[in-house]
Amino acid sequence: MIEKIDQLRSEIEGLSAASLSEVEALRIKYLSKKGEISTLMQDFRTVPAEQKRELGQKLNELKTLATERIASLKEALENVDTVDTDLDLTRTAAPMPLGTRHPLSLVKDEIIAIFSRLGFTVAEGPEIEDDWHVFSSLNFAEDHPARDMQDTFFISRNPDVLLRTHTSSVQSRVMETTQPPIRIICPGRVYRNEAISARAHCFFHQVEALYVNENVSYADLRQTLLYFAREMFGPDTKIRLRPSYFPFTEPSAEMDISCNLCGGKGCSFCKHTGWVEILGCGMVDPNVLEACGIDSKKYSGFALGMGVERITNLKYQVKDLRMFSENDVRFLEEFTSAR
Ligand code: DAH
Repeated sequence: MIEKIDQLRSEIEGLSAASLSEVEALRIKYLSKKGEISTLMQDFRTVPAEQKRELGQKLNELKTLATERIASLKEALENVDTVDTDLDLTRTAAPMPLGTRHPLSLVKDEIIAIFSRLGFTVAEGPEIEDDWHVFSSLNFAEDHPARDMQDTFFISRNPDVLLRTHTSSVQSRVMETTQPPIRIICPGRVYRNEAISARAHCFFHQVEALYVNENVSYADLRQTLLYFAREMFGPDTKIRLRPSYFPFTEPSAEMDISCNLCGGKGCSFCKHTGWVEILGCGMVDPNVLEACGIDSKKYSGFALGMGVERITNLKYQVKDLRMFSENDVRFLEEFTSAR
């Protein structure tokens, strides 16, 4: 009997199966009621008492071995059935789609970078403002049309709470709390009560710059503008200043740059003038300095303000302003390379 047990043990240790039905056949062969091991168990009854102890132990070990061996063959085959054998676990993961910077953010950051090379630092103010910071401190007459419901979104009246219509409000906020020298750049969103179309929107973005110090001159303004235009649109860019009017600057001007599409020769984009308008500017009106607590006899300053959408249109020829706020991924992904 002991030989039979040893023979079965080596048989079972070497068992293999290619399918679940083969495993089942092995189970029947060794473990079923009429299987090899059960037969041995029956023979065990006739074994002399002095051998019972040793043989019983061996028999039990054999049964455990067969049960475990067959169970592990079964488990291995069941797993094979469910695993996708084409799966390559060493392959690198699929690339994760990355977001892109919004074109307005790209351009805003570029404007900030250019002015920071001249020593300007970023200042910010609230979008929900009061009349004083948006209009009165900036020398707007009591009956100025910009205060009208047509242009300004009022949240409440008396006292007036409104959405700022320009970032010039940040100028007065900073001047009220800081004495010169002041050299700030103020990016931000502004709101106007306009019908939305390809060319106008009820909200857009501006960047304002303000420099106040002793002896700031129009020549300083002009040189700053030239530096900005060349950094932004290329070293061959020319600028031209046309007289204009803003309540908070005197004298005031609008700046054109030579059309960056045709290089100034004239094309449909610049309406065949060779020039495109990009910003408003001027010397800070002494009334504004005084209203904000700055001595206008000692200090002078210049200010300028530009629309970020306008600059972005010039750089990337975006035809429809609404594209900037629709968040169409196909549009936003066009700026991936500029990330
Ligand atoms: N605030 C003006 C606007 O919204 C833009 C502007 C013009 C800003 C002249 C200035 C400036 O600082 O000096 O159209």
